[in-house]
This record gives sequence, structure tokens and C-alpha cells, in this order.
Amino acid sequence: MPRHTAIVTGGTRGIGRGIAEVLAAENYTVIAGYGGNDQAAAEFTKETGIPTRKWDVADFQACQNAVASIEADFGPVTVLINNAGITRDATIKKLSYENWMAVIQTNLTSVFNMTKAVWDGMVAENFGRIVNISSINGQAGQYGQVNYCAAKAGVIGMTKALALEGARYNITANTVAPGYVATDMVAAVPERVLEKIVSTVPVGRLGDPAEIARAVYFLVRDDSNFVTGSTISINGGQHMY
Ligand code: CAA
Repeated sequence: MPRHTAIVTGGTRGIGRGIAEVLAAENYTVIAGYGGNDQAAAEFTKETGIPTRKWDVADFQACQNAVASIEADFGPVTVLINNAGITRDATIKKLSYENWMAVIQTNLTSVFNMTKAVWDGMVAENFGRIVNISSINGQAGQYGQVNYCAAKAGVIGMTKALALEGARYNITANTVAPGYVATDMVAAVPERVLEKIVSTVPVGRLGDPAEIARAVYFLVRDDSNFVTGSTISINGGQHMY
């Protein structure tokens, strides 16, 4: 299999870290992007040997610059995993415009920003793999997450349009919609709320990042060209869609 250069945004922690590790183990050249936590990024590189780059995925120009610099160092980016995301949970009554915008920009506009930055290169290579990480909450809704659910549902629609546009260039675009996975993001949910949520998961536990990462690897493989525009839900049976 030819060696591909893969960007995983939000790749130093949580689900992104799991994806970065699985792709690196499968012989991809992986660059993990991150937004703020320098210490976690340094530990990640120390433990995995995977290089990191810091930029804000919500910033269009920063994405252009990051991809240009990664391509200069590692060659054309043929695999893009749009994983970076944040939560700013609050009911609509308390949700501020700033926290609406922060989640839309970081979780949805980022997918546009990063895809724009790699698209022409993928077309030139006549090959590309884009996997966008959505969420069960974009499919089912979640109390206190009007912003997050809107962004994550938006990702699913965007992926389908990209699949249509990419097909003629051997660029596939797919969505993975994880349920509740053991990450820092989920750990921030108040304990009593999380207990209630886990009690509704038939498998009876949180997911492991590696369980999401293995599906991402399946989607990016060279021989997965017929899999495009799909949404793979991985949620322990919590929501069957
Ligand atoms: N359904 C119905 N009612 C609910 C509810 C639910 N799921 N959750 C809370 N409520 C009710 C409460 O029972 C409470 O009602 P009473 O006052 O009558 O008892 C009322 O709503 C207010 O609840 P809180 O006390 O929790 O209110 P709050 O303002 O302090 O917090 C909240 C609201 C921020 C939404 C908080 O409940 C919360 O953090 N919920 C978790 C949201 C969540 O699951 N986020 C997922 C983050 S992880 C992630 O997003 C990753 C992924 O992709 C899966």
C-alpha cells in the first residue's frame, strides 16, 4: 500500500488520538493537529512519536497555512480526518450567542476550512479520503446541546455533498458518528447526568477511542473506494439510525 500523509485534527487527545495511533500503526504518515493544550501534545508525541502542529481549525487562513506547511514537510495530504471539536453545553434559555458561534465555528466551519485546504491537492492526486467525526447527538438530539447538535447534524449533510463532488476524483467522504466515548469531553459531563446516559446504552459502558478509530481506518483504506457518503454509527446500540 502506498504511504499516505494523513492529518487528524484534534489528534492529540480522545478519539482523535485513537485515530492517529491506529493510522500510524497502519503505516500512514500522521500529523496530529491541536488547538491549545501544549502539554498534552508534547506528551502525545513523546509517547507515540507522532508529530503535532498547532492551529485553530475555526480560522480559515490558519488552516490554509497549516496544510501548506505540512505538505511542504510531508508531501500531499491524501487523508483528512476532521475530528476536532468542543462543547459549550447549555439549554437554549442560557446559551449565549458566543457559545452558539464557538461551537458552530469549531465543529462545523472547521470541516469546510480544512476540506478547502486539502481539496485541490486531493484532486491533483486523483485520490482522497475525508472522514468527518459527527456524533450520536447530531442524529438523535441532546438536551442542552442545541449548538453541538446543529453542528454535528450539519457535518453529516456536508459529508454527503462532498461525496457527490469527490466521486469523480476518487475522493471519498464519510461520516463516523460516535456515541459516548471515554474522553476528556465526556468526562466533563456532570457525573449524575452521565450515569443516566450510560444507563441507556445497551452495551452498558462508554466506548473506547480505538473502537471508533478502527472504523475510520476501514474508511480511509485504498480498497474502500466504494464506501462514500455513508454514516457509520458506533454507539453501543444507544441510537439505531
Ligand atoms: N432530558 C430531560 N430533562 C433533562 C435532561 C434530559 N436529558 N437533562 C436535564 N434535564 C432537566 C433536569 O432534570 C432539570 O430539571 P428539574 O429542574 O426539573 O430537575 C433541568 O433539566 C435542568 O437540569 P440541570 O440541573 O442539569 O441544568 P443545568 O442548567 O445545570 O445544566 C446542562 C444543563 C448543561 C444541559 C447539563 O444537564 C448537562 O451538562 N447535560 C449533559 C449534556 C450532554 O450530554 N452533553 C454531551 C457532552 S459529550 C459530547 O457531546 C460527546 C458526544 O458527541 C456524545
